[in-house]
Amino acid sequence: MRVPHDDGPQGPKKPPRAPRAAKAGAVIAEPHRPDAKAARAVTTEPHRPDPKDSPERALVSGARQQGEAEVATIRPQRFAEYIGQAALKRKLEVFVRAAQGRNEPLDHTLLHGPPGLGKTTMAHILAHELGVKLHLTSGPAIEHKGILAGHLTALGARDVLFIDEIHRLSPTVEESLYSAMEDGRIDLPVGEGTRARTIGFELAPFTLVGATTRTALLSGPLRDRFQILEGIEFYGDDELAAIVLRTAGLLGFAISKEAALEIGQRSRGTPRIANRLTRRVRDFAQVAAGPRRIELRDTKQALHELGIDEAGLDALDRRMLTMIVENFRGGPVGVDALAASLGEPRDTLEGVVEPFLLQRGFLLRTHRGRLATAKAARHLNLELPAPGQGELEL
Ligand SMILES: Nc1ncnc2c1ncn2[C@@H]1O[C@H](COP(=O)(O)OP(=O)(O)O)[C@@H](O)[C@H]1O
Ligand SMILES: [Mg+2]
Repeated sequence: MRVPHDDGPQGPKKPPRAPRAAKAGAVIAEPHRPDAKAARAVTTEPHRPDPKDSPERALVSGARQQGEAEVATIRPQRFAEYIGQAALKRKLEVFVRAAQGRNEPLDHTLLHGPPGLGKTTMAHILAHELGVKLHLTSGPAIEHKGILAGHLTALGARDVLFIDEIHRLSPTVEESLYSAMEDGRIDLPVGEGTRARTIGFELAPFTLVGATTRTALLSGPLRDRFQILEGIEFYGDDELAAIVLRTAGLLGFAISKEAALEIGQRSRGTPRIANRLTRRVRDFAQVAAGPRRIELRDTKQALHELGIDEAGLDALDRRMLTMIVENFRGGPVGVDALAASLGEPRDTLEGVVEPFLLQRGFLLRTHRGRLATAKAARHLNLELPAPGQGELEL
């Protein structure tokens, strides 16, 4: 038996869509409206602290921190406001325009990349540019099939359903997502005992946008059901400086270009960190000198007090690199040994410390373990044991 999508009490003729109450934890972002009032709201995107985040990492972690509000005014709403990622933007703009031209939903899209690089932001932009509603949820929030069905049946034609941390869906939920993605339907059990049966609900054509930190975390079958798979890369210092200037402008304070670049250089390639540091630097500058333009000197002083060095490394990064150089003769050292020596969970090292150190060439990952590079030793003012010595000891 088939039940048409979203019949409700009015019968099968679908009335014009009225604003619906959020179901089962869904957060519905309205289509983009240019009026400032709508844009000023703080997003209500559910915040789930990542277990990997230790308080020590609060400043330099790309992940959103407990209680940290994402201010909607600084979140780009259009492709044109999204700084950097030129190749990604170009492709997605083409896909959006092509889908619109055909009057079809955008193909299911998977965005992957480390936390804080703009995956959620891109989901907002895709919905705005498509002129449809964005429904936000996350893998852990979809606890069972019924919740998923609630989200799916609430979708209007061509709407975007954004599932953050999609790799954290349970296997049974994931399985029912397959038929929704492929055939636009979802089978749900109704009734009990001998009268139990399955009803197939037909869904409005929709776009699933999934976000994950690494595609490798996704099961093969789920990954294969996305037609568009795109990675978001770490940002360059100039791009981050542009983000700092944009954020300062939107928050209504002045900052010099040099100061913005200084923050950019220390933001670990991550817009969320750049925005966070911008706000903290502003606090220091304001308390020290009142409301005036933030200069390079203010910025250096504030970042020094915040414990973030010229390369954007914080205490834990420096502790880890120092440990490899001094206690493990530069490496290679296994991640478990490192985690034990540092007293930090392995997840924290792999998930939030290493990606940036690897990307900036402070660390090498080999099949035998981690190696600190000459660049790391120079940065820390340490002597790296002669090359190869660590390996000879194995
Ligand atoms: N390309 C960008 N240009 C300007 N600001 C950005 C960009 N990408 C991300 N941001 C800012 O960084 C913050 C974090 O982005 P978000 O999309 O939440 O990251 P993710 O979902 O990947 O963890 C957002 O509040 C947004 O304001
Ligand atoms: Mg996000």
